[in-house]
Amino acid sequence: MDQQAVALLRYVHGAFNLTVFVVLIIFARWGFRVRRSRLAGSRDSAAARKHRSAGVLLLGLVWMGYLAGNMLILLDKGKIWEYPVHGLAGLGLAGFMTLNYVLSRKMTMEVTSIRDVHQRVGRAVLVLFSAQVLLGLGILL
Ligand code: HEM
Ligand code: HEM
Repeated sequence: MDQQAVALLRYVHGAFNLTVFVVLIIFARWGFRVRRSRLAGSRDSAAARKHRSAGVLLLGLVWMGYLAGNMLILLDKGKIWEYPVHGLAGLGLAGFMTLNYVLSRKMTMEVTSIRDVHQRVGRAVLVLFSAQVLLGLGILL
C-alpha cells in the first residue's frame, strides 16, 4: 500500500485511540461515582444510567481500535505482531472490556462481589490503556 497513506493512517489510529482514552476516563468516573454513592448508602442514578448506557459503546470503540490496529500493521508490514507488546496489550484491553461487559450483566445490588471484581477489572483497563498510549506514542513518534 501507498506509504504516504499508511503514514497518515498511523496518526489516525493514534488520534482515534487517544480520543477513546479521554472518553473512557469520563465513562469510568461515572462508574466510580456509582460505587461511592452505593458504599455511602445512597444511589447516584444519573451516573448509573450514563455508565450503563455508554458501556456497550465503549466496548465497541475499544474493539474497533484493536481491529484497526491489526489491519494497519497488515497493510504496512504484511503481518501482525510487528510490535508484540503493543499488540498483546491491545488484545488484553479488548478482553478485559469484554469481561467487564459480561460481569455487568451479572451484577445485582444484593451480591456485591461481582461489583468488586468489575471495579478491579475496570482499574486494570485504565492502567493498561495508559501504558498502551505511551507504548503507541513510542512507536509513532
Ligand atoms: C474502564 C472500564 C470500567 C470501569 C472503570 C468501570 C467501573 C465501574 C464501577 C466502579 C462500578 C460501580 C460498582 C459498584 O457499585 O461497586 C460500575 C458499575 C457498572 N458498570 Fe462498569 N466499569 C467499566 C466498564 C464497564 C463496561 C464495559 C460495562 C458494560 C458494557 C459496564 C457496565 C456497568 C454496569 C451496568 C454497572 C452497574 C451500574 C448500576 O448500578 O446501575 N462497565 N462500573
Ligand atoms: C494513543 C494511543 C495509540 C497510539 C499512538 C498507537 C500507535 C500505533 C502505531 C504507530 C502502530 C504501528 C502501525 C504501523 O507501524 O503501521 C500501532 C499498531 C497497533 N495498535 Fe496502536 N496505538 C495506540 C493505541 C492502541 C490501542 C488502544 C489499541 C487496542 C485497543 C491498539 C492496537 C494496536 C494493534 C493491535 C497494533 C498492531 C500491533 C502489531 O501486531 O504489530 N493501539 N499502534
